[in-house]
Amino acid sequence: MELRAKIFIYINNSSEKMVCKQLTLIKLIIYLILYNEELSTQKMVIKKVGDYIIRRCVKEDLDQVISINLTSLPEHYSNYFYEELLENAPEAFLVVEINNKIVGYVMGRIEFGFSHTKFGFAKKGHIVSIAVLEEHRRKGLGLALMEEAVKGFIQRGCKEIFLEVRVSNIPAIHLYKKLGFVITSRHERYYSDGEAAYQMSLFITNK
Ligand SMILES: CC(C)(COP(=O)(O)OP(=O)(O)OC[C@H]1O[C@@H](n2cnc3c(N)ncnc32)[C@H](O)[C@@H]1OP(=O)(O)O)[C@@H](O)C(=O)NCCC(=O)NCCS
Repeated sequence: MELRAKIFIYINNSSEKMVCKQLTLIKLIIYLILYNEELSTQKMVIKKVGDYIIRRCVKEDLDQVISINLTSLPEHYSNYFYEELLENAPEAFLVVEINNKIVGYVMGRIEFGFSHTKFGFAKKGHIVSIAVLEEHRRKGLGLALMEEAVKGFIQRGCKEIFLEVRVSNIPAIHLYKKLGFVITSRHERYYSDGEAAYQMSLFITNK
């Protein structure tokens, strides 16, 4: 009897261990599936423009994004600010890449503030910055980045999208007008060097 009991306990123990191992394995598989899914949605191709790929930005891209900002614009931001925007509105933080190199980006954030069209508050998408490396310009990349960022803000329920642009930045003003943005106000001495900014807005209708 004693021996039988021992065998029973042994079998029971070893099957418990087996169950534990199997559970750990299942947990590992579930984790890998979820992790892979997260990676693939983050790196999901949103649009192709010729050989260029437009996709959502991920944290690992930020160094390249910051470097493009430094070479393309006088307005720079802290690393923390980029991370904050990526958390706030990943749908509107997009990069364009070719041969695994990022050559442009657009980023923005969601804000609540006074509506430009109606009395009261509105959920608004704010395009904070966009740039395409000089050698890749005039290929439709700026336009594609903006179109997809606008879609991202709409997905998040924004009814208005706005941005500031230097009054002298003709390429950018043309780009925004092409997308339907209109000048809603002018802010004198908006930039640190004293230049004025236009505020331009795009109003989303439910048509
Ligand atoms: C603004 C910028 C992002 C445009 O990017 P891009 O990839 O060259 O733009 P696209 O090729 O998609 O052009 C789309 C439209 O923008 C306008 N545009 C772009 N470059 C232009 C230029 N040099 N002159 C006039 N219009 C221009 C045109 O309307 C163009 O449409 P079209 O080609 O049918 O004429 C790019 O010039 C850039 O990175 N500039 C430096 C950073 C900057 O100023 N960012 C904006 C800060 S508010």
